[in-house]
Amino acid sequence: MARRKKIYEGKAKILYEGPEPGTLVQYFKDDATAFNAEKKATIEGKGVLNNRLSEFFMTGLNQIGVPTHFLKRLNMREQLVRSVEIIPLEVIVRNFAAGSMAKRLGLEEGQPLPRPIVEYSYKDDALGDPLVPEEYIIAFGWASQQDLDDIVALALRVNDFLSGVMYGVGIKLIDFKIEIGRVYDGDFMRLVVADEISPDSCRLWDMKTGRKLDKDVFRRDLGNLAEAYTEVARRLGVMPSNVTPASKPTLIN
Ligand code: TMP
Ligand code: ASP
Repeated sequence: MARRKKIYEGKAKILYEGPEPGTLVQYFKDDATAFNAEKKATIEGKGVLNNRLSEFFMTGLNQIGVPTHFLKRLNMREQLVRSVEIIPLEVIVRNFAAGSMAKRLGLEEGQPLPRPIVEYSYKDDALGDPLVPEEYIIAFGWASQQDLDDIVALALRVNDFLSGVMYGVGIKLIDFKIEIGRVYDGDFMRLVVADEISPDSCRLWDMKTGRKLDKDVFRRDLGNLAEAYTEVARRLGVMPSNVTPASKPTLIN
């Protein structure tokens, strides 16, 4: 039985037609992929956790005046969002060296950067989302210089908000990725934070122990991913009551 029209299916989420024009329903799957889907698994409960966590971060951003596509959570796995035109870029903000930057420049992971660094990857799975300079973005018309100035301002506000929220629960925000969408209001176009903000798209390290609480747990086989995400949700007070991690959570003092 086709309940509603599927608009798009990605690796971790599905977008369905929303109840009103200009809206979509964003469904969070339990699927996890890494290294451009070379590595795949189903992690029970991940979709529920990311739905809650993304709701939490997007609601906070809306409340401090950073516009996002988020409207409301509908149920355990779905949220109502504004339909946007996605800019084909992954906007990455880094506070500490890690991942591909650490590898590219031979830096030690966790090394503080002189200032937050914003970089862009062109969203194309077939190409493996290559890092692109601003000049390519403007020359190929993916975004204008004005858009990029606005994107950097948005990304840095998201960075300050997320860094502060995570600091409050003893977690260091190493880096994260966001996606930006265009919303048209009559003749005006606005840029909003879209997609999701969750431990799938951030690097989160415990402040005291350095324990990784993000998708690197899956990428690097460091343990139980649902347990790590549950820990983030628990510390933020957004632990959904009926999700139990596959194994016992560790108590922290
Ligand atoms: P990187 O160090 O692998 O380039 O990743 C930088 C940040 O972007 C990190 O927080 C993980 C996130 N990220 C995604 O959300 N999706 C991706 O496809 C990749 C490669 C990274
Ligand atoms: N590259 C993404 C990641 O590692 C996932 C994927 O492309 O399959 O986060």
